Amino acid sequence: MEKLLVKGKKKLSGTIQISGSKNATLPILAASILNEKKIEIKGVPIVKDVITMFHLLKHMGSNIKFNFRKKKIFINNKNKKLRHVAPYAFVKTMRAGIIVLGSLLTKFGKAKVSLPGGCAIGTRPVDIHLYGLKKLGANIKIKNGYILAEAKNGLKGAKIRFPSISVGATENVIIAASLAKGTTYLKNCACEPEIKNLTDFLRKMGVKINWLNQREVKIVGNRKMKPVSHKVMFDRIEAGTFIIAGALASRSLKIAGIDTKTLNTELKILKKMGVKMKISKNEIRVLESKNIKPITIRTQPYPGFPTDLQAQTMVLMTMAKGISKIRENIFENRFMHVPELNRMGGKIKTRGNLSLIFGPQDLNGAEVMATDLRASVSLVLAGLVAKNKTVINRVYHLDRGYEQLEKKLKKCKANISRVYS
Ligand code: UD1
Repeated sequence: MEKLLVKGKKKLSGTIQISGSKNATLPILAASILNEKKIEIKGVPIVKDVITMFHLLKHMGSNIKFNFRKKKIFINNKNKKLRHVAPYAFVKTMRAGIIVLGSLLTKFGKAKVSLPGGCAIGTRPVDIHLYGLKKLGANIKIKNGYILAEAKNGLKGAKIRFPSISVGATENVIIAASLAKGTTYLKNCACEPEIKNLTDFLRKMGVKINWLNQREVKIVGNRKMKPVSHKVMFDRIEAGTFIIAGALASRSLKIAGIDTKTLNTELKILKKMGVKMKISKNEIRVLESKNIKPITIRTQPYPGFPTDLQAQTMVLMTMAKGISKIRENIFENRFMHVPELNRMGGKIKTRGNLSLIFGPQDLNGAEVMATDLRASVSLVLAGLVAKNKTVINRVYHLDRGYEQLEKKLKKCKANISRVYS
């Protein structure tokens, strides 16, 4: 069992280079199935979920190579017919495996993809994905835990309004519409920057795709693809996480390799909380921030405050002088870090999707348990600011989405190490 050991109260200083986005890389890799010409993807983060997607594509027969040193993926599927099955073994560990459904279906006319099932943060159904694909003409059945989808004569463009906003469903249906006959109009789309990164990738491959307004996209299907070279955008959740680490524990911490425009909402909230930052176009310097103020936030789809930064922000709220509130509007069970933070001396009360954080509280190191990706990193942040030693169990959650977290923090003088027991 791997654990992280953090000895708190060390002042951080130096530069943290932000990696490529996991949530942009995954749909881009899924969309690679559409194109038989050469594909180069740059700035790929080496994290567990991306490696799982790489193995899934390999399993399906894709001629895919990962150069870890250069952080590049190369794919060349000239005249290749991929296996159209995504088995449970892959999708159970990484729900985003469901995104190959749209690609396989539109490219090969059929797909068999394991149902992902729920996960720690909620039930996470896939009804919106299936709703969109059916509207494009797919026949879909569920059998033995698998989604069996078919479109013998190919998918057809359609006008679709998503019943509610979903990142994954928007990606799946955009990818499927890319090879469909005719034009697709999608309304009530998620518009996360990672989805824009995906549509940029598709456009470079030859798909005619335009955002008509914030939540509406037009796609003209096109089976004639071009070779493509594409750089994955920066990981805005990783950036937000390290900005909060800086606010909690830095003397002067530079967060580099980002586009600060994309972080508007998060930076506005952090500024209101009294985090001292010098913001320029592609980097932020976080300075010692002694006077943290309470705030109320609610998580929302982009451009609202991201659910993926909720747990990390909660740690900062424990330092604020007064009562902060968080309303979690995206996932129904995303406060699992609360009991762990309370074991470290936090004073946080939760009712339904609302948390009240009573600050300021001095956190104390403890042995804690990571429960999901973002909850795990919130415990690392708490460990950085807590007195004494914090031991974080089940760090495999963290490895799904953070590239070299300990190495990056260590370089900035944190006392953090991985132990094996
Ligand atoms: C993506 C992100 C994840 C982030 C989330 C919300 C990736 C790989 N993951 O997840 O990090 O936390 O967006 O920003 O990009 N829902 C349904 N039916 C569906 C689909 C979703 O009810 O068919 C619900 C979900 O259970 C959830 C909400 O809609 O409550 C939003 O989920 P969604 O936007 O689809 O998140 P993911 O794409 O799974």
